[in-house]
Amino acid sequence: MTQTGTEAPTRRQPGTIKLHGPEAFAAMRKAGQLTARALDMLVDFVKPGITTDAIDRLVFDFAMDHGAYPATLYYRGYMRSCCTSINHVVCHGIPGEKPLKDGDIVNIDVTLVVDGWHGDSSRMYGVGEVPRRAMRLMEVTYECLEKGIQAVKPGATTGHIGAAIQRHAEAERCSVVRDFCGHGLGQLFHDEPNILHYGRAGEGVELKPGMFFTIEPMINLGRPHVKILADGWTAVTRDRSLSAQFEHTIAVTETGVEVFTRSPAGLDFPDNPAFGKAVIG
Ligand code: MF3
Ligand code: CO
Ligand code: CO
Repeated sequence: MTQTGTEAPTRRQPGTIKLHGPEAFAAMRKAGQLTARALDMLVDFVKPGITTDAIDRLVFDFAMDHGAYPATLYYRGYMRSCCTSINHVVCHGIPGEKPLKDGDIVNIDVTLVVDGWHGDSSRMYGVGEVPRRAMRLMEVTYECLEKGIQAVKPGATTGHIGAAIQRHAEAERCSVVRDFCGHGLGQLFHDEPNILHYGRAGEGVELKPGMFFTIEPMINLGRPHVKILADGWTAVTRDRSLSAQFEHTIAVTETGVEVFTRSPAGLDFPDNPAFGKAVIG
């Protein structure tokens, strides 16, 4: 396994997963916290009538104002500063001119690069008054992410994470999308290991202190199957059922887990009924 080092962020030998040291942890805290603040900033803007293009512009301006760069911009031909996935869109929705409307649910996924390190996080935002079944899906998905995070500790495996997520989603009569997974990251945006959001405890890669990766479950009210639209990016549920996603960037520590992208304002789930309707600023 590769140990802490300063080599250039290029692809490594397959099967080796980088184990990071204290300087990398400090850099990821910076990138993760700025990403969280970008998602916090959006809470007051995600209202009926705003276009996802306007949200994208807010993310771009926030990055520029804070010495950061949106990792998705010019990434593999993607031309926006975030992804905005509305209702039955599972992930990688491209911001556009259509305004959000009352009752929509939207995932906003932001990855900010700070000093070369990536913070990758996404949340669900309710637009105006959200139907009960959509609110329930968002709650279940948030709980899935938290259960996945709770499974992280040295000696556990990536399979423990997937199993915890799948168990909760299916107990709540929802389904786990199989076509996309969490990923290692750091100085690279997408690296090893793959973090599947389903599976069995003990399968996959053993977790070790110093590993950095995302957990980002996509959970559907209906069947798990997705298709990609003609734009080459937008993933939607085949049965057009609602889909939700939350994402954090985390590290395995000596004793468990550190979440780099926690909201400093407590808005990790902006519509969490336990908080009441979120108001910041
Ligand atoms: N942020 C997404 C992730 O969680 C990746 C988006 S890539 C894009 O991995 F090109 F679609 F923006
Ligand atoms: Co990600
Ligand atoms: Co992301």
